[in-house]
Amino acid sequence: MASDEFQPLQGMADLGPPEVERWAAAEQEARRIFALYGCEEIRTPILERADLFIRSLGGETDVVQKEMYAFEDRGGRALALRPEGTAGVMRYVASKGQDAGDARLFYIGPMFRAERPQAGRRRQFHQIGAELIGAPHPAADAEAIALHAHLLSGWGLQQCRIRINSRGLPEERAAIQSAFRERLLPHRDALCEDCRRRMEANVLRVLDCKNPACQAILADIPPLTDFMSAAARAYLDDVIRHLEALELPIERSPNLVRGLDYYLHTVWEITHPALGAQDALAGGGRYRLQFGGRAVEGVGFAVGVERVMMALEQERPANTAERLPLVWLIAHGTAALAENMRLLQTLRRHQLAARMCLDERSVKAQFRAADRARASHVVVRGETEIQKGVFLLKNLATGEQEEVDMPELMRRLSALRLHEKT
Ligand code: HAM
Repeated sequence: MASDEFQPLQGMADLGPPEVERWAAAEQEARRIFALYGCEEIRTPILERADLFIRSLGGETDVVQKEMYAFEDRGGRALALRPEGTAGVMRYVASKGQDAGDARLFYIGPMFRAERPQAGRRRQFHQIGAELIGAPHPAADAEAIALHAHLLSGWGLQQCRIRINSRGLPEERAAIQSAFRERLLPHRDALCEDCRRRMEANVLRVLDCKNPACQAILADIPPLTDFMSAAARAYLDDVIRHLEALELPIERSPNLVRGLDYYLHTVWEITHPALGAQDALAGGGRYRLQFGGRAVEGVGFAVGVERVMMALEQERPANTAERLPLVWLIAHGTAALAENMRLLQTLRRHQLAARMCLDERSVKAQFRAADRARASHVVVRGETEIQKGVFLLKNLATGEQEEVDMPELMRRLSALRLHEKT
């Protein structure tokens, strides 16, 4: 078998037990914080009609044009793996009508984009996101950003930067683009080749260009908000005022245009220095979409879990030597093995995670297995201990070892209990 047959597809990754442990802890913390804001969990399908994403994200966006895993099923229907979570949530909200008018929903799950893989950029990646439906008021945008910041600090990330801007109103988008194009036109020949093409296809993407020559030209062009209506500018000012009152440090970023078409008014992005070129840890904004006669409006965000893990690894490296709340039973002789199998079940009934080697091997090899499993304690039993009715308990973190009877064993291990029964 060729060695790459053991590998997942390019841009996709297996998560082994040590990673899953960290991911699950991050998800648990996210659920705790979402509950503080009254958000409830939603799980929408991974596969949707392609049209849902084309209509909501925009047919001309990179995500739809270049990155969507779209295909026809056997019945000739155009389907797509979800490239993001907001469109599915909006479809769900529209299907519920008034009942979901002011829902606060969060989701955790895989998304798919056929991008060129690199550090922090995958084809299957995972998002944790939240959507506050309805509430078309700057206070709701500020609360969504506060929730977003709370989530990141809950994970222990302290080096995040929040940048904010406005996309204006959908009805003024064409006017904003043409005013911006007009200001760029005199500099057209000095722009890079990509940007000359962007001027025709999607002029606001010029703002994302990293080329120093293009950056220099952009520095002399007024910020996008200058081309927006007074109402759009006032909305952004209000959001910022609310955020200042919450003492959340944010930066105005006149060049920030997020790459999805459903946004209106506020957009924001959160970056982290650990991420290098792909430095967006998370992004969000206010959006509106029409479903039949029904408009769904909301404000929300999504965090890229892989990128959060990269940032966390830099800020708080994982302690892989840390021991788990696990008791490992070690048998000295065949009789002890059978006795230990009974003890295993007793420990588990008392909510203690317990394992042992299910074969006959040397005591030394059993200690090695306990160590590999990162067990915190071992209990050793041989003929003598069984006859005396005692257990040799060793704490593997401290090396302390002592002989205890059954009640004392349970007392010593009680701190490791996984769930206390009520
Ligand atoms: P987005 O900016 O496209 O927004 O994605 C959000 C986050 O997902 C990014 O900041 C990044 O951390 C992560 N991400 C995106 N693509 C990849 C990739 N190929 N590999 C790894 N991570 C990736 C949205 O998806 C919107 N739905 C956010 C939103 C929710 N806006 C309003 N509500």
